[in-house]
Amino acid sequence: MADRPYIVGNWKMNGTRAMLSEARAIDRSSQRLMKVEVALAPPFTLIHAVHREVEQIGVGAQDCHAAEEGAYTGDISAAMVADAGAKFVILGHSERRENHGETNALLREKSAAALEAGMRVIMCCGETEETRDEGKAESFVTRQLKASLPENLENPADVLTVAYEPIWAIGTGRTPTVDDVASMHKAIRALLVDLYGEEQADEVRILYGGSVKPENAKELLSADEVGGALVGGASLTAESFLGIVLAAAEVQDQ
Ligand code: PGA
Repeated sequence: MADRPYIVGNWKMNGTRAMLSEARAIDRSSQRLMKVEVALAPPFTLIHAVHREVEQIGVGAQDCHAAEEGAYTGDISAAMVADAGAKFVILGHSERRENHGETNALLREKSAAALEAGMRVIMCCGETEETRDEGKAESFVTRQLKASLPENLENPADVLTVAYEPIWAIGTGRTPTVDDVASMHKAIRALLVDLYGEEQADEVRILYGGSVKPENAKELLSADEVGGALVGGASLTAESFLGIVLAAAEVQDQ
């Protein structure tokens, strides 16, 4: 597995330029924690400003359109976010799957567009509470992921990260048990090995997301096959986000 943990903050629809000071503070402190790879995905309107503000951390987008350009009022292409300074795109977040009806097939197209524009992809997947209660979480998530990932990916180790985010854990304060996380990540790893072969698949980090906070980060990040975290609410202030980055650094030292 890739050795540096990857901690990504997803600001969702939060943030105006007043929040640039948080990005700056996150960046400055991350410079002292080089054993952790840190990134932020601000809203589209802040990508360029955050990109200019930071030196160390990565900057990415929360979505992109599948088409290169054209008559799509209000949409943003992969080339546009890359031009603004994004180095990666989060795709397939459950809020986009649900609120915007994004299908696995569309996400496969979007990921191809992001890769074509020279960016990396963080592909999200996750089950509802009902699916977990039915005991079908792993089969659902691996099927969803398989159908969303780009086909014929030659170098997944360089361009792909997966984020497992159980929908019922997002923004709720609830998290799965460490055993459940480890077991899901193992199932995802097995799928990646099937798709890309062991050598490439081993280097793809699988992040956990859903109510990660400084208080639970160490435990979740210590679970088998967890290569980092995708953080929503707790990424909105430098104080809480850096608490998670610090936890990742401590897990690295163990
Ligand atoms: P949360 O969100 O940390 O606020 O639960 C995680 C996510 O949606 O990526």
